Amino acid sequence: MTALLLDGKKLAEKVRSEVTLEVAAFREKHGRAPGLHVVLAGEDPASTVYVRNKEKAALEVGIAGAVHRLPATVTKAELVELIARLNADADVDGILVQLPLPKALSAKDTEEILDLVDPRKDVDGFHPINAGLLASGRPGLVPCTPAGSLRLVDEACVLLGGRSLRGAHAVVVGRSNIVGKPVAQLLLQRDCTVTLAHSRTKDLAAVCATADVLVVAVGRAEMIGGDAVKEGAIVIDVGINRVEPKEPGGKAKLVGDVAFASASERAGAITPVPGGVGPMTIAYLLRNTVFAARRRLGG
Ligand code: GUN
Repeated sequence: MTALLLDGKKLAEKVRSEVTLEVAAFREKHGRAPGLHVVLAGEDPASTVYVRNKEKAALEVGIAGAVHRLPATVTKAELVELIARLNADADVDGILVQLPLPKALSAKDTEEILDLVDPRKDVDGFHPINAGLLASGRPGLVPCTPAGSLRLVDEACVLLGGRSLRGAHAVVVGRSNIVGKPVAQLLLQRDCTVTLAHSRTKDLAAVCATADVLVVAVGRAEMIGGDAVKEGAIVIDVGINRVEPKEPGGKAKLVGDVAFASASERAGAITPVPGGVGPMTIAYLLRNTVFAARRRLGG
């Protein structure tokens, strides 16, 4: 079997055009656009690129807001003050603190700073209140990568002739709060039987090989080979890993957590890296911003 390619770029464009209409309707009703504010501390090269892409995408759909660029020497107190100001600002609908924060801030500092974001403005869906709402099956802000991944699964079901998720075995590899756990919750809400696997799972390949839906988010280049993919499975590869060239002067390459060539010989549908989950994450950030704005102001 040669898998169908799940084109995240194309699907993200569709989501973005839906968001553009929603932004226009919001503006009509409230006299202003939804506002997204991104906090970028330090100069991590990947974060700088991600934030630039988010800024550009927000602008394209008509979302207002700003990027608050702070030096790597920013203190916890300064970040706390900025978040308090954004929380109190009625024109701010969405707040996103780009991770990782500078090294001088501990993991505990990061957690405390993220916990200060007003849950109604938490467009990343990282606040424990939003995590709790998701785990309870109640409406809240859902993290962007998991939401985008689920949309790709839905798209795959349509492309594969109307496949149902009910009772399907979904295996999620990776137990992070940002991706693995929320993806598992979303699949459970769709009546999948969910296995949440991780780096310590025994016989990981054998577990993956039983999956009708396989979502991999471990951050290890091509860790899941084609032999771990069930014939006809829907494979969502959340990983994005930079692989340095073998020879000097060669080009670095971006690969996923799944060995794409061998996996696509067995899967029914698979996401590429890049061009799969990545563009969907940004599209769902825009969607979350409009959702947050509407929930606060109505409409
Ligand atoms: N750093 C890498 N991915 C993300 C993300 O989705 N949200 C935030 N806030 N930081 C990130």
